[in-house]
Amino acid sequence: MLQSTEASSRSVGIELRDIVKRFGSVAAVDGVSLDVRPGEFLALLGPSGSGKTTILMAIAGFEYPDAGSILVGGEDVTWVPPNKRNLGMVFQKYTLFPHMSVLENIAFPLKMRGVGRAEREDRARAALATVRLDAYGDRKPSQLSGGQQQRVAIARAIVYKPRVLLMDEPLSALDKNLREEMQIETKHLQREIGVTVVFVTHDQTEALTMADRVAVLDQGKLQQVGSPQDLYETPRTPFVAGFIGETNFCAGTVRDAGASGGPVTVVLDGGALVAATAVDPVAAGGRVRLAVRPERLAVVAADGAALTARVNEAIYAGNATTLILEGPNGLPFRVRLPAGSQHAAPALGDQVGLRWSAEDARAFGDAP
Ligand SMILES: Nc1ncnc2c1ncn2[C@@H]1O[C@H](COP(=O)(O)OP(=O)(O)O)[C@@H](O)[C@H]1O
Ligand SMILES: [Mg+2]
Repeated sequence: MLQSTEASSRSVGIELRDIVKRFGSVAAVDGVSLDVRPGEFLALLGPSGSGKTTILMAIAGFEYPDAGSILVGGEDVTWVPPNKRNLGMVFQKYTLFPHMSVLENIAFPLKMRGVGRAEREDRARAALATVRLDAYGDRKPSQLSGGQQQRVAIARAIVYKPRVLLMDEPLSALDKNLREEMQIETKHLQREIGVTVVFVTHDQTEALTMADRVAVLDQGKLQQVGSPQDLYETPRTPFVAGFIGETNFCAGTVRDAGASGGPVTVVLDGGALVAATAVDPVAAGGRVRLAVRPERLAVVAADGAALTARVNEAIYAGNATTLILEGPNGLPFRVRLPAGSQHAAPALGDQVGLRWSAEDARAFGDAP
């Protein structure tokens, strides 16, 4: 059995220092620096083509960076070949050997490392128990479901007690229910054995569900690293605000500015005067883009409201109703009303007021 104390005392951190990787004229990874803490579950999150797999391949040693260095457990492994790094890998396709039994599949990396037959079998059985497939050792991979095969792939990746487990979209081939189940299960397993995990996904819900911290990438650049709550509550770039959860964006001009991180007042294009919190340094007269979450918008009476909008659509989804509204200059807004709120949803065509607290509107200094 893999003992958690043993594994966690062995778990190591990873440091990426200013990694650059180009393919021709494309900078797949463009100056990424990142610390993964020992025993941490870190998700690399970003849209397709943002450089996630390239970063993982550089950590694994299958790609060498053009610039920068990679440390695992404090040791510079930038030029160390993959088989000398002692890292486990799980990919989207389970890549189990079809002609081998489940147990033989799991024991295979030990065989490659010259471990004797009896010990191989013991350790493979222990790994199989860790992923709760004790009874399936003699089956062929084709006799298992997709989720079971993925668990075997994980067992095979942890059987030699790697210092780090690297996972590249390992659940994306599974259907929704199984996938959600495996998200929780994989997270529990990681806690149990205490191994450091870097998990690549393009699915924000998956990243928020599984990870201690999430590193958000766009076009090869690191946008922000933080806990799921940090990213949702205090996005540092418009990209993060838009990529994690839902956000209303609207542009305007600063009227009164304080310090960065402080309150500002903004005249939205269309004339409404609203309050916000500056993320970037902004000055009076400067252009800003505001980001406000749909659940942080309050619907109030139109009379006396600075910002008014017309209700164009109400989408009922059981636990909440989403209103789609049209503000000044056709500016779209989405408002989320939780089920059971005391106020009835306004009727279609109603003109209503919209209000938010200054701390719920983040002002970015990048508006056109
Ligand atoms: N071997 C390669 N040859 C050429 N271009 C590549 C190669 N691998 C990745 N790229 C390019 O690098 C960028 C990042 O790719 P990748 O790391 O696979 O992104 P992600 O995993 O986030 O989808 C993309 O533009 C991709 O086309
Ligand atoms: Mg990828």
